[in-house]
Amino acid sequence: MPRYWLQCFECQARQQTENTSFRCEKCGGLLEVKFNLSDRSPNWKKRSLSVWKYKELLPIDRQESIVSLGEGGTGLHHCKRLGKKLGLKKLYVKNEGENPTGSFKDRGMTVAVSKAVEQHRKRVICASTGNTSASLAAYSAKAGLDCIVFIPKRKIAPGKMIQVIMHGARIVEVDGDFDKALEIVVKLVADRRDLYLMNSVNPYRLEGQKTLGFEIHDQLDGQPPDTVILPVGNGGNISAVWKGFNELQQLGLSKDKPRMIGIQAAKAAPIVHAIRNHASRVLPVANAETIATAIRIGSPVNWPKVLRAIRDSHGTAETVTDIQILNAQAQLARDEGIFVEPASAASIAGLEKMVEDRKIDRKDTIVCVTTGHGLKDPSIIDRIPSSKQFYTLTGNNTDQLNKQLF
Ligand code: F0G
Repeated sequence: MPRYWLQCFECQARQQTENTSFRCEKCGGLLEVKFNLSDRSPNWKKRSLSVWKYKELLPIDRQESIVSLGEGGTGLHHCKRLGKKLGLKKLYVKNEGENPTGSFKDRGMTVAVSKAVEQHRKRVICASTGNTSASLAAYSAKAGLDCIVFIPKRKIAPGKMIQVIMHGARIVEVDGDFDKALEIVVKLVADRRDLYLMNSVNPYRLEGQKTLGFEIHDQLDGQPPDTVILPVGNGGNISAVWKGFNELQQLGLSKDKPRMIGIQAAKAAPIVHAIRNHASRVLPVANAETIATAIRIGSPVNWPKVLRAIRDSHGTAETVTDIQILNAQAQLARDEGIFVEPASAASIAGLEKMVEDRKIDRKDTIVCVTTGHGLKDPSIIDRIPSSKQFYTLTGNNTDQLNKQLF
């Protein structure tokens, strides 16, 4: 029996070959990597926290293929001050902004770029709202791969844009949103074998991202939290983390699994609509809009995986407004010293809303995943909720300043 294989998420067909679009050769469904978990008892305890700590459960065959910038091992911060305000004793933030390029994408990219190297690929491609392209550009630079990214014109946060440019990727600006950019990229790869697709339909990427779940479990001393809250865009991350918790259970390392809660921006919330309506499919939202540009997505390609993660875990999905996102972003920064980008703050905003609506048990252990660093998006500087922070020193009049300050 092989260590791992590709299987259809929908019809379970084991894939004989790998096509460029990462779709099932039988039914066209999404693919996932399946591991033979029966004879595996990995001894992880002595290794330090990182994505590659869990290498037995990552689909890379040769150590020499690994392209790493030191991803994973991010902090799980016990948020006592914010928790107290919300009446929660066990509130944690898993801060993915601490990754090498400042977002959780690095977990997936180290694995997918390693796979590209292992398969002797030379050229990688993605569509992106910013972080995927920043991460892919960096890992491609490290691996010496030709990197092409498709991004929605003028809708990428400046911190992400500078990363893509700095790492030397070639950039195609699309007149349209992320959904259109991804559609074009998927069409392109279908016709060309020399392009390796790096969006989250690439199942190898999600394998790296599942280590987020492994790390949370490790950092809570081998206990799963009751609830994990994540921002949802294309839906790769919430599905990957859920897969991670499932594998821990199958390995006998964890009895329970958390409930998964997905947060979307109110005007970009196709998953939330489907969950609320008990729908079997996710209908795309046209003209998705939010200040959290990272999750400005109307047609999430991983929707079948997201629906299953939320429903199987007895979780749910919630919307938050841009104002709620901006308030939560400032609150986390001011109460806990953690500066995250707007999309990441959606998880905190969603928690706050659910606490208010009494949809969260205050005794629970709750982990909010903050997915990207605050410096990614300085463009929101004029929209930071105001508090008295600026003072003026006129001439040398320190007496007057003293009066103002103290
Ligand atoms: N948070 C941030 C900061 C993101 O950049 C993304 C996705 C998400 C959350 C949502 O994750 O798509 O797995 O549900 N950004 C992608 C990109 C789409 O291109 O960088 P998801």
